Amino acid sequence: MPHDTQSMNQTRQSFTGLDSVWVFGYGSLIFKADFPFIERRPARIDHWQRRFWQGSHDHRGTPDAPGRVLTLVEVLGSSCKGMAYRVHPDVFAHLDHREKNGYLRFEAPFHFDDGSEVNGLVYIASDDNAAWLGPASEWDIAQHIAASEGPSGPNDEYVLRLAHALRELDEVDAHVFAIESHLQQLKLANAQTP
Ligand code: SIN
Repeated sequence: MPHDTQSMNQTRQSFTGLDSVWVFGYGSLIFKADFPFIERRPARIDHWQRRFWQGSHDHRGTPDAPGRVLTLVEVLGSSCKGMAYRVHPDVFAHLDHREKNGYLRFEAPFHFDDGSEVNGLVYIASDDNAAWLGPASEWDIAQHIAASEGPSGPNDEYVLRLAHALRELDEVDAHVFAIESHLQQLKLANAQTP
């Protein structure tokens, strides 16, 4: 799979005849909605879990020193809460550019708190993309994140803003919260170093 998945995404789904499409955010799309949307609602998708296993060459790192950002991995029986946005199909030009570093659009059912369901799209970076970094301990991931920065800002800001947004959604994500806590420890240790 090429480094830049933008053109692949443009041919994956047809939006012909559609006035709006749902897209699910589980990472930066929760806390940074830099696109117009018709409505947004908290939602869950089943059998997926967040992992900081994707490299970021364009937002929270650089090609020479990639940061670590989220993707989803399949875990049967699990559930991932995030934010669903109903957008005009034109918005995908922006989203495909934003998520171009290895993410592909997949279709999935979204479940809302009131029990209703819609089908929509979610950007997932799978292990065959060129920016994939893969598993590491949460402590190693935190150390990597603490040392990374890219055009969108410091890598740790991604984690801290996400953790805050997840608490607002009443979502407990052990992986994200463990990395957040390691980052806070690292900050404290750095502040105490003379
Ligand atoms: C998402 O937020 O849904 C995709 C991953 C990211 O951009 O952080």
